[in-house]
Amino acid sequence: MKKILSILIALIVLGIVAALALAYAPFKPTPANETLAADWKAEPGRGEYVMRAGDCMACHTANGGESMAGGRGIESPLGTIWSSNITPDKETGIGNWTLDQFRAAMVDGVGGHGQQLYPAMPYENYRFMTESDLRALYDYIQTEVKPVKNEVQATSLTFPFNMRFGLRAWNWLALSGEAKFKPMAGDEQQIRGQYLVEGAGHCAACHSPRTTFMAQDGTRLSDASFLTGGMVDEWTAPALRGKDARVQKWTAEEIAAYLATGRNAHAVANGEMALVVEHSMQYMTDADLNAMAVFLKSMDGQPVEAVPAKVAAAGPRSMPALPADEAGKATATLLTSASPDMPVGARLYLDNCAACHFVSGKGAPEIFPELQGNAMVLGKDANPFVSVILNGTSVPSTSRRPMHLAMQGYADRLTDEEVAQLASFIRNGWGNKASNVSASDVSKVRKHTQAAAAPERAQ
Ligand code: HEC
Ligand code: HEC
Ligand code: HEC
Repeated sequence: MKKILSILIALIVLGIVAALALAYAPFKPTPANETLAADWKAEPGRGEYVMRAGDCMACHTANGGESMAGGRGIESPLGTIWSSNITPDKETGIGNWTLDQFRAAMVDGVGGHGQQLYPAMPYENYRFMTESDLRALYDYIQTEVKPVKNEVQATSLTFPFNMRFGLRAWNWLALSGEAKFKPMAGDEQQIRGQYLVEGAGHCAACHSPRTTFMAQDGTRLSDASFLTGGMVDEWTAPALRGKDARVQKWTAEEIAAYLATGRNAHAVANGEMALVVEHSMQYMTDADLNAMAVFLKSMDGQPVEAVPAKVAAAGPRSMPALPADEAGKATATLLTSASPDMPVGARLYLDNCAACHFVSGKGAPEIFPELQGNAMVLGKDANPFVSVILNGTSVPSTSRRPMHLAMQGYADRLTDEEVAQLASFIRNGWGNKASNVSASDVSKVRKHTQAAAAPERAQ
């Protein structure tokens, strides 16, 4: 899983001098944000649940490796950062760690050898977790996770990024405010949703923009830029907040279904979001999924409709194609006419795509995603969209929606020029508005994705 690691650019900007000054100040760990009795024990299952909510397994498990034994390479422009072994193995994992050491990693970004952790580990968000959740997680790792002896390759970035102490200065800039969750003015359900989204769920790591120092710009609801959209590699992580955010037009019920199953009547989750659904969100309870959905809908004080207790209860639906709406009418009429002098892009759409995504561009709910208003189609960077056309894509199977959906790629069938015409047509059909795609853009994506064979994206 490639992550948000141009963050490291920050170090250059900061300069080593400032870093040195701070580096010699002794480290003061943030104390627990809640007092628990020494013999406090989490109810059974809670620690594992917190691990799912925080998606620890995704980053801390290597491809084909043992669960949580680390060694997953996270690519950054400056080199690969290897995730740590967080199984309770005493030599190579965190089996000897105290709770205080664990808290320092989660809250202050300080690792087992007192080293500053790279913010590839999302402690910018985990620091809002409650002490009871951290403790449940710590106990779970120490007593329920299988210890695995696995010496993870050391991360060695190029100078000056190998100077981990520089991150002291970075943290000083990036970690604003107290390491404590601040509940919004709302009811219990909204507050629970806010807690999960801001804390363990680390949604801001992808969905908030970045500051000049590559820190998350907006880690809490009270920050103006919180969840207003970010980039992960070259993928757009769409805005979840504000009037242009597509999810604000979905019902809370539809948002919950998307999180739980990676699909709803409007969209499917691809790329990094498919992984979030597969490894984390699908394990959340209906109550927590609803809480997150209701929170997301009410972030700016909008009223939210009540949600049914059961998430995605309707089962895989096969609904008839929806007719084109006002904005989509002209494009649907053009496609239906199938006239010989239709633009090349429209012709290619009719021949290759309309069977599933329909002339209305609306697809079929929960099966074939809508291309009208689609965040990936309209992405600032068209590469992920072009990659889907060339290489296909798939939606993971989840317990609530076991059916695995896949779309084939068209790399063998369409030339670069054809893909460019087709993509430009879709980016401007049915009321969509986005820049055109050129044949040379397509050629670059073709070379890049075929070299990488995109195994991670296809899942
Ligand atoms: C987005 C990827 C990502 C996620 C999600 C993630 N981690 Fe990490 N974590 C990392 C990376 C990368 C490192 C190593 C950073 C470094 O070497 O500076 C790390 C380091 C750590 C360390 C320090 C280990 C040591 O030996 O110093 C601990 C503890 C840890 N993670 C626990 C967790 C837990 C618990 C979760 C889930 C709540 C979690 N991580 C989720 C990427 C992640
Ligand atoms: C590792 C990065 C990452 C994390 C973490 C992440 N997302 Fe996403 N999210 C994405 C990307 C990328 C997309 C776009 C997916 C696509 O184009 O198919 C997305 C799409 C979405 C969408 C659909 C938006 C639309 O307009 O189609 C919702 C809703 C969403 N995410 C909610 C969340 C929530 C809630 C969390 C936290 C629990 C979260 N995401 C965590 C990367 C991430
Ligand atoms: C046989 C049916 C079928 C055909 C034909 C088809 N698709 Fe798809 N398409 C799907 C399915 C199923 C998905 C959902 C899989 C996914 O997104 O992971 C999908 C997903 C997509 C997505 C991702 C949408 C999102 O929200 O992430 C895009 C973009 C797309 N198709 C465009 C096209 C284009 C362009 C063509 C023609 C070249 C085409 N499709 C042809 C079935 C089809």
